Amino acid sequence: MTERLATDAAGIARAAELLAAGDLVAFPTETVYGLGGDARSGEAVARIYAAKGRPRFNPLIVHVPDLAAAERVAVFSEAARALAAAFWPGPLTLVLPLRPEAGISDLVSAGLDTVAVRMPAHPVARALLAAFGGPVAAPSANPSGKVSPTNADHVLEGLDGKIAAVVDGGPCAVGLESTILMLDPPTLLRPGGLPAEALEAALGCALPTGGDAARPNAPGQLKSHYAPGAAVRLNATEKRPGEVFLGFGPGPAADLTLSETGDLVEAAARLFGALREADRLAQACGAATIAVAPIPDTGLGRAINDRLQRAAAPRS
Ligand code: TXA
Ligand code: MG
Repeated sequence: MTERLATDAAGIARAAELLAAGDLVAFPTETVYGLGGDARSGEAVARIYAAKGRPRFNPLIVHVPDLAAAERVAVFSEAARALAAAFWPGPLTLVLPLRPEAGISDLVSAGLDTVAVRMPAHPVARALLAAFGGPVAAPSANPSGKVSPTNADHVLEGLDGKIAAVVDGGPCAVGLESTILMLDPPTLLRPGGLPAEALEAALGCALPTGGDAARPNAPGQLKSHYAPGAAVRLNATEKRPGEVFLGFGPGPAADLTLSETGDLVEAAARLFGALREADRLAQACGAATIAVAPIPDTGLGRAINDRLQRAAAPRS
């Protein structure tokens, strides 16, 4: 049985105690719920991969409460410090040279000499990281390849009985995973909750997107990801027979909408929950496909379209 913990002092203390014992605890961040384990414990990290059914080659993000903790894990250049000052805490993950002396398990970095580091903004995540006092490896708290969880019920739908606890902090405000940036050379590895335009403005240059197959970077090498049960049809301008229609902005009558007013922030926050809901509707009415209205490809729309393209990709 997976414990559902409150966000009060007792709940945070229990969650920190479980992490210290090498157990897995799902917790809310402003992006999605993370499945946390002690990043220094090979056994805890192996449990994360096992609970998710995750391929070993896909490395994990290390979560820290503050910059001092981040600098103990990774080597920060001037540019990295400037980005941390501008955007942390928040939905940005930096890929930086790993400090071997930090004792991060090889399973976290999947053998790379870099590490992905993130300082989440969610007060519950920050309280838990501070109480635990060590680096926490945390992928999204869902079975590998499935839709990411944006509330505690989503976590339990996929992982009940497989993890020690979930800290129930309600729905996630951003709703999309963090933006992942490699700094050397500056490359956008995954569009996410921090719009790429904000990073480009801070860096003063355009950001190429990463997709080098030789490097295990953002979920890129796993083309099908975020997959609901039903098939997904993108850029749909009408609802066809046998479809559930997921709308955005004004347009044809929709079964569900990401945002009635065409607001990308609202659409990002609703995306994963809406995919789950559309899947339930499709199952209930025997529809085989979820049709999704076009989403503008700017700001958070870029990250939304990235997730939708993976949700629509052929399943292996
Ligand atoms: O918002 C988020 O980032 C959430 C919450 C829980 O913080 N976490 C999350 O983790 O999305 P995950 O494991 O689903 O995604 C981590 C991504 C993977 O696609 C992985 O390939 C990439 O980060 N990554 C991790 N370490 C890396 C490294 N050293 N170099 C390049 N990419 C790396
Ligand atoms: Mg994930």
